[in-house]
Amino acid sequence: MARNKYDVDEELDIEFNFDQVRRLLKYIKPYKKRLFLTVIVMLVASFTAFTGPYLIKIALDEAIPKRDLSQLILLTLLYIGTLLINALGLRYRLSSTAEMGQSIIQNLRRDLFTHLQRLPFAFYDSRPHGKILVRVVNYINTLSDLLSNGLINLITDLFTLMIIAFFMLLLDLRLALISLAGLPVLFAALFLLKNIQRRLWQKVSRKQSNMNAYVHESINGMKVTQSFAREKENFATFATINQSYRQAWMKAIISLILVNPIAENLSVLVIAAVYLAGVAWLNQGISVGVLIAFLSYISSFWLPIFNLTNFYNSLINAAAYIERIFETMDEKPSVADAPDAKLMPPIRGQIEFVDVCFAYEEGQEVLHNVSFQVNPGETIALVGPTGAGKTTIVNLISRFYDVTSGKVLIDGIDLREVTLQSLRSQMGVMLQDTFIFSGTIIDNIRYSRLDASDEEVIAAARAVCAHDFIVNMEKGYYTEVNERGSRLSVGERQLISFARALLADPRILILDEATSSIDTETELLVQQGLAKLLVNRTSFIIAHRLSTIKNADRIMYIDDGGIVEAGTHETLMNKKGAYYRLYMSQYQFLRAI
Ligand SMILES: Nc1ncnc2c1ncn2[C@@H]1O[C@H](COP(=O)(O)OP(=O)(O)O)[C@@H](O)[C@H]1O
Ligand SMILES: [Mg+2]
Repeated sequence: MARNKYDVDEELDIEFNFDQVRRLLKYIKPYKKRLFLTVIVMLVASFTAFTGPYLIKIALDEAIPKRDLSQLILLTLLYIGTLLINALGLRYRLSSTAEMGQSIIQNLRRDLFTHLQRLPFAFYDSRPHGKILVRVVNYINTLSDLLSNGLINLITDLFTLMIIAFFMLLLDLRLALISLAGLPVLFAALFLLKNIQRRLWQKVSRKQSNMNAYVHESINGMKVTQSFAREKENFATFATINQSYRQAWMKAIISLILVNPIAENLSVLVIAAVYLAGVAWLNQGISVGVLIAFLSYISSFWLPIFNLTNFYNSLINAAAYIERIFETMDEKPSVADAPDAKLMPPIRGQIEFVDVCFAYEEGQEVLHNVSFQVNPGETIALVGPTGAGKTTIVNLISRFYDVTSGKVLIDGIDLREVTLQSLRSQMGVMLQDTFIFSGTIIDNIRYSRLDASDEEVIAAARAVCAHDFIVNMEKGYYTEVNERGSRLSVGERQLISFARALLADPRILILDEATSSIDTETELLVQQGLAKLLVNRTSFIIAHRLSTIKNADRIMYIDDGGIVEAGTHETLMNKKGAYYRLYMSQYQFLRAI
């Protein structure tokens, strides 16, 4: 089947090794006591269960031949007691494993999410978001069972094996040795299969990731898909991905079910050997009671072995997910607080770029030797063609990315010397792609300053002329909007995030195309409101419409990764350069329509 560009597997950067197991154990540590207690309970339960066959042996070899009724009754009661203890033990184990497993993955998920929040824009730029999603949601789920049930099984099964081996040795050394002979063969087989299985499971996890990424992207892009009637093609893509996911699963499952027949055939061989030897040696030190008890032990002996091979299988399976989870956790935030980062003092608003070069991808410079200085309270407008680097410049002021060379200073302090939290909490940023969270409108505006009162929120909304459309909605400020604000028009979304940026009452305000989708009439009103609000703040305004820009203290024309010209509207108009041409073209365009 033809491959498509969505079915591209992510390279795996780290190898699974025992360090990762150790890291997982760290998550189990808080539940050490509970785990210990559960193992003890399970040991008691299985020990009592395994005295059962021994009780039967005593009954057969002693009580019945002696026709000792009271001993027989005692043995029966003891036998019932063992069953009861075993049942209680299992019940306890069921509840405690569920609780431990869920708590452990809750913590793991918490840590992964915390880490994701620390990862910079660059991390999210570079991969499909569905592939991140699948790690937090699905991959971690697969570990739940392994870390609770699996671990307890592992410990109890190992002990069970020892207990049974103990009873077997107690009964008869020769038969015990025959029984144990199957184990080395099984271990050798498992060892040989290990690498094949690992590769197969890794493939499953990658295919699952691809599918998630595609579904996620398709849902996000559904409107475009339907607008261009691309459903059929997308379905074909999805079918391919779905198919290769299934194929990967089937291969992995086949490798898994290969292991069970090996174990089962071995167990049958060993049990047959014990039957033969036991019958042959009857009267050579082996009584009927011993033989029957022994046969009962040997069938229970293989149960923990089956369990252990299953545990081993799930470990191999989970390894494919564990390595991905830790890979994400190990992702270094490329923009992070320096170890000796200070708190940013209250910002006055002076900004300086010193020979700033910047590249999103190595070798592809977007900004080249940009230097400028902005005084506190100044309003700077950035203009220039699409893709010139305007958004990039303001991204660097918020330190969403670190400069490749040169430095960005606020009040003379290099941004890399202060904590991100203390810096960004003093800035109001309205990104070019506005984002609305699911919730009420009032909460969306309040997002930037959680302690703002309703009055303050409304004041901010009024300032950007969002108030009128908001109160016209069915529940006003308390109208619920969906994820991404799909119930709002693009212009309405802009006004809300505009109000959000303003509410933070920041010393530095950054508005990236804040009014690009708003009608000219509203925009004029917004400008009037804004003029008052911009007093005493340093602000960067990126806009296409020149009417917004004219009043700025300084206009910087950006093109080809640098500042082509800068000055007030009048100076630039007199200069008759790039800005003049831009202005005239818009002016003529406006006159033409
Ligand atoms: N996240 C990114 N990764 C790689 N390249 C980017 C990224 N964002 C922007 N670019 C590139 O950087 C250049 C400047 O982009 P940008 O600053 O967004 O321009 P604009 O002036 O339109 O705001 C463009 O060529 C764009 O393709
Ligand atoms: Mg831009």
